[in-house]
Amino acid sequence: MRIIVQNAKCQGHARCAAHAPHIFKLDDAGYILAGNIEVAEGEELTASRGARSCPERALKLDRE
Ligand code: F3S
Repeated sequence: MRIIVQNAKCQGHARCAAHAPHIFKLDDAGYILAGNIEVAEGEELTASRGARSCPERALKLDRE
């Protein structure tokens, strides 16, 4: 599973990182780092919760 990060939509709410700081890394200003995120096996549920928590819908799940 992969998370598609749409940086232009991120407003720095940091809810993603509150769910899973080891998956969703933020920069010093609190915005998600650029680049899609490869989710390790066993982390899918935590990652999808974090992605869905974003009020800006900046994080899209890609289950391919
Ligand atoms: Fe940004 Fe959404 Fe996370 S606005 S910091 S991707 S909760």
